[in-house]
Amino acid sequence: MTSSTYVKQRENQCPVSKSGSYPGIAGKVVVITGSGSGIGLAMAKAFARCGARLMLIDINNEALKREKTTLESSHPGVEIEIVCGSTTDEILVEEAMQRAHARFGAIDVLLNNAGIAMNKPSIELPVEEWRRAIDINLTGVFICAQAAGRRMIAQRCGVILNTASMFGVVSAPDRAAYCASKAGVVSLTKVLAVEWAQYGIRVNALAPGYIRTALMDELIEAGRIDVNHLVKQTPMGRLGDPDEIAELALFLASDSSAFITGQAIVADGGWVADGYKSKNTVTSTSAIGEQNADH
Ligand SMILES: NC(=O)c1ccc[n+]([C@@H]2O[C@H](COP(=O)([O-])OP(=O)(O)OC[C@H]3O[C@@H](n4cnc5c(N)ncnc54)[C@H](O)[C@@H]3O)[C@@H](O)[C@H]2O)c1
Repeated sequence: MTSSTYVKQRENQCPVSKSGSYPGIAGKVVVITGSGSGIGLAMAKAFARCGARLMLIDINNEALKREKTTLESSHPGVEIEIVCGSTTDEILVEEAMQRAHARFGAIDVLLNNAGIAMNKPSIELPVEEWRRAIDINLTGVFICAQAAGRRMIAQRCGVILNTASMFGVVSAPDRAAYCASKAGVVSLTKVLAVEWAQYGIRVNALAPGYIRTALMDELIEAGRIDVNHLVKQTPMGRLGDPDEIAELALFLASDSSAFITGQAIVADGGWVADGYKSKNTVTSTSAIGEQNADH
């Protein structure tokens, strides 16, 4: 199977029903970081479909404006605020939360999703790149959780979902900063869940496996990611779809998961469970030619 065959084949394979119904989400105020593309954008679409009011935060202003227009035309009546900036900027994050609260009157759900990939052998990893990954993937998640948490504590309810990764649960070569940052997100999730349960706030982490985002597709098409290798490592024999992670987020944000908190929910087609195959076939990413966009 060539990479481009794989991409075309996948168009017909995604089993996600986009009609999953979560009536309790209607009217909820949902802040989504990293919502200009990929998983965060899929989340924005899923929550808009369910009638949520959205605050979208991303560093890519062009993508934010474009996707706001698209969402407003595909979901007439949806209310959307956008803020362009980095989740590592605590002043900007505080202003974004204030704006969402002033317009919508609450912060019900935070989808703490912004993150970057970082693949490099540990021995060559410059400290500034390590710091950047920790800053965006972990410190940014804390900054957003704290800013949303202040409002949620005052209102005595809320849901926070932090996007970690299966590489926050297991390790892999050449991902020291990525794995450490995502393991940090899993740990932070548990601490916040334990601290804030008394205020009616649930905090969970999403731990996706390999998800076919637009960026992944480009890299597959360009032959820069060995998709066959990734598919072989995955018991379900395919990559995940951003919509599948968005559906998980809907479930975890809804009252259907009312007794679940402090968990990292792995959605990876069986990749982590298959310890034998992982341990015996994982090759150093630099050896199989994967690039920096591999999460
Ligand atoms: N795609 C995967 O296979 C995969 C697997 C596991 C976990 N994840 C995690 O899912 C999350 C989303 O990944 P994706 O694949 O959709 O990536 P993506 O690159 O498609 O989207 C990430 C978005 O976040 C934005 N962003 C980056 N840094 C930011 C910052 N400091 N502040 C605000 N916005 C910022 C980008 O502009 C982009 O729109 C990340 O946390 C990533 O680590 C992805």
